[in-house]
Amino acid sequence: EEGLHATRYPWEHEKFTKTFDHAALRRGFQVYREVCSSCHSLNRIPYRTLVGTMMTNDEAKALAEENEYDTEPNDEGEIEKRPGKLSDYVPAPYKNDEAARAANNGALPPDLSLMVKARHGGCNYIFSLLTGYPEEPPAGAVVPSGLNFNPYFPGTGIAMARVLYDGLVDYEDGTPATSSQMAKDVVEFLNWSAEPEMDHRKRMGWKVMAVGSVLFAISVWVKRHRWSTIK
Ligand code: HEM
Repeated sequence: EEGLHATRYPWEHEKFTKTFDHAALRRGFQVYREVCSSCHSLNRIPYRTLVGTMMTNDEAKALAEENEYDTEPNDEGEIEKRPGKLSDYVPAPYKNDEAARAANNGALPPDLSLMVKARHGGCNYIFSLLTGYPEEPPAGAVVPSGLNFNPYFPGTGIAMARVLYDGLVDYEDGTPATSSQMAKDVVEFLNWSAEPEMDHRKRMGWKVMAVGSVLFAISVWVKRHRWSTIK
């Protein structure tokens, strides 16, 4: 059963002439860390990729050091703990899927790294899902116990409850943290995590077009020149 069709929003970062808004990515990552990361992993993101896109080298280093990682086994096969480095990946909230399900009523909170690409509707779907929980399920809706009503989720009964409420996080740049602002920022961040090369691709596209038009103009000129003796 399909969910309600998500509204199409005019995402700035999806435009061919625009890149990701680094301030939005920074806010979106804050939402991920402070809200989503208690249940969802972000397995494909190493700290080093945050540098330059949403934080400084020192900030990313400090963040990595807040977590502990296993060392390589030593000669005796012992594994110890060491602070995180830039090359480490953002840690997952649970040891494995079993532990994740046990903590979530049997439902598995999926890894969010590629979610924007994995779900039909991408950014629009996730934004609609996060902001689309009604106060009450509509009259007549059957919501199995343990599930929450969300019209955008296929089947409408979703194990994730509403998580975003106005003022939940404190943005350091002073942006008012309304639910829709947080949803927008975290969605843009998740689009970045799914396509970190997008900005590069767009810039290359412009270069290819610029160089291509020059070469085309030259070829037109050469052709005219070559054939100019034939009347
Ligand atoms: C599912 C996003 C916070 C628990 C999902 C899905 C997305 C998502 C995109 C997939 C929906 C689908 O399958 O189509 C987010 C974001 C969060 C957030 C962006 C932060 C803003 C949380 C939190 C929890 C949680 C804090 C736990 C308390 C779950 C669970 C599912 C889920 C259990 C599976 C739902 C099901 O299959 O019925 N979430 N989530 N999420 N999320 Fe979250």
